[in-house]
Amino acid sequence: MEFKRHHPYRLDEASRNRHAEVHLTAENFIYPLFVREGIHEKLPVENFAEVYHHTPESLLREVEKAISQGINKILLFGIPDEHKKSEYAEYAYDEQNIVSRSIVTLKKHFPELMVFTDVCLCSYTSHGHCGIIENESINNDKTIEVLGQVAVCHAAAGADFVAPSAMMDGQVWAIHKALHSNGYDKTRILAYAAKYASAFYGPFRTAALSTPAFGDRKSYQLDYRTIRQGISEIESDIAEGADWIMIKPAHTYLDMILRARQLFPQIPLVGYHVSGEYMMLHLLAEKGIADALSVLWETHYAIKRAGADFIISYASTILAKQLLKYEGVQ
Ligand code: PBG
Repeated sequence: MEFKRHHPYRLDEASRNRHAEVHLTAENFIYPLFVREGIHEKLPVENFAEVYHHTPESLLREVEKAISQGINKILLFGIPDEHKKSEYAEYAYDEQNIVSRSIVTLKKHFPELMVFTDVCLCSYTSHGHCGIIENESINNDKTIEVLGQVAVCHAAAGADFVAPSAMMDGQVWAIHKALHSNGYDKTRILAYAAKYASAFYGPFRTAALSTPAFGDRKSYQLDYRTIRQGISEIESDIAEGADWIMIKPAHTYLDMILRARQLFPQIPLVGYHVSGEYMMLHLLAEKGIADALSVLWETHYAIKRAGADFIISYASTILAKQLLKYEGVQ
């Protein structure tokens, strides 16, 4: 015979399972959650299926459910009262704010849970930009000082990881310095290292109430026509003290995940399956064009296959629940 027979590897489900090279477990997921001030019950978010604004109590219940499905990592976003937003985002580092209070309660109830917090100003500035604006442009160096204060505030409350997402130059350096000089040597940094200015963030911005009042984020987030700039951002973040790095979005940037995996084999790598990517699959299924779980699995496996160790995913509990079912069957 002059040709190789490949079909035996995939003839039936058992052989396909035996030959699978990539595996996903609930521990690979980081589950993003929104906690909001001033609401009395959890509220669904418009155009963002299965995603809610949580009260501190409903947040605890959601986390309890996630943990029962084997998820042990969450990424927390805080949404302050509208009147607490300001030009200099002071409330972002108020020790009594919703994020700090939520971390304390979560850690009390679930000491084993790994809590990641998003460190950015966009939900706290009156204009919705990720940094401080002066003379109509971002003041990078003032912003990173404030981001350092936000990180210290989250660390003091007990966050395991702070995740700076503002895409300011030197933000990891400033946060690393602030954490260390305040004695929080154990708090680690997950750097949103290569974060592209993406039109796939739409549903998130509705959820975080953080759409910029003017302009866009293209002067600080990466241009999607660049590769080297992304690599260079990762290099800087590692040099500045990042413990883990992230590529965002993930589904549309699988090539960057693969590159990062190959160029930086020593560092844990996270892919963020962002809100618009998630909703794209949801809508496909809602239209009856694809099966919801099948496209979710295929996409999450693709992110893992490209080289991500962890996936930040709004579908974390949907998928983890199914994993449990499979384990029950075997
Ligand atoms: C905050 C932030 C954003 C996302 C995560 N952190 C929005 C943005 O940069 O505009 C997007 C996440 C998603 O779309 O799921 N800077």
